[in-house]
Amino acid sequence: MTILETSNLWFKYSGGSEWALREVNLEVSEGEFIILAGRSGCGKSTLLRCFNGLIPHFYDGEMIGYVKVCGLDTREHPPYVLSQYAGMVFQNPDNQLFALTVEADVAFALENLSIPRDEIRERVDWALKIMGIEELRDKSPLELSGGQKQKVAIASILALRPKILLLDEPTSSLDPYSAKQLIDTIVELNQKYRITILIAEHRLDMLLPYASRLIIIDNGRIVLDGNPREILEKNDVVSYGVSTPRVVKVATQLKKVLGDSSNLGTPLSVEELVEIVRRRRYQ
Ligand SMILES: Nc1ncnc2c1ncn2[C@@H]1O[C@H](COP(=O)(O)OP(=O)(O)OP(=O)(O)O)[C@@H](O)[C@H]1O
Ligand SMILES: [Mg+2]
Repeated sequence: MTILETSNLWFKYSGGSEWALREVNLEVSEGEFIILAGRSGCGKSTLLRCFNGLIPHFYDGEMIGYVKVCGLDTREHPPYVLSQYAGMVFQNPDNQLFALTVEADVAFALENLSIPRDEIRERVDWALKIMGIEELRDKSPLELSGGQKQKVAIASILALRPKILLLDEPTSSLDPYSAKQLIDTIVELNQKYRITILIAEHRLDMLLPYASRLIIIDNGRIVLDGNPREILEKNDVVSYGVSTPRVVKVATQLKKVLGDSSNLGTPLSVEELVEIVRRRRYQ
């Protein structure tokens, strides 16, 4: 089932001389896990902003084409309605947290939507539990670490029960351990709760093993869109400002040493490469 679609989408920020998005045609099915990658300024954040209605409702500019989120045309519905279908997590959680306690932060959007008290309590409990942060409930967001803040920010979005989670470089302010923990949680949301994930991220290494699709954007245009393994097999993504995952580099070097008949393929994780090498030894 198509959950998100864009048709011939172009966007130019007011005051900008260049189009930030050019002729974007995209269809996303429910349950996909999509990485958006590309050099800085290529349009990743702009595209995500189109998916929850911040564009065209919050950012001024010229938009051509349309975006539909769960069948709703984003031009016709305001962001607070669209956020119940596609919720956005930003790079810096500090911009998303402002209440006195974690619980109040997670409940905030629900209260604004006039959802009944009992249901708010139920949804807040659920979101805190999924994110594994129930013990932070009464804490002030100011006391939390970066990783904890990002989890609270995601919980406050999840409480809206969106079908799609949009994440704009959510790990960029986190240390590698917290980043890995956050990614594990995002993977669980996708696999266990079937939430569709669209994530702009530079750390491809950690995400690739879980992604069903990799989209590479260059100068506002989608230049590659497909299965991550096939894309990395056939293309040198470095030319689009995306660094090749380390495990792919290692496999490429190994193939040079062992020859083309080594059948190493294009492993996307260290575990996968180890497994291929192990099987090869005992063949
Ligand atoms: N609020 C804004 N007003 C005007 N121009 C903007 C605005 N936000 C982004 N742009 C421009 O739109 C283009 C796409 O920017 P965008 O932020 O979407 O890229 P990005 O891929 O998210 O980059 P990064 O990896 O640095 O986050 C760039 O040329 C940028 O300068
Ligand atoms: Mg960005």
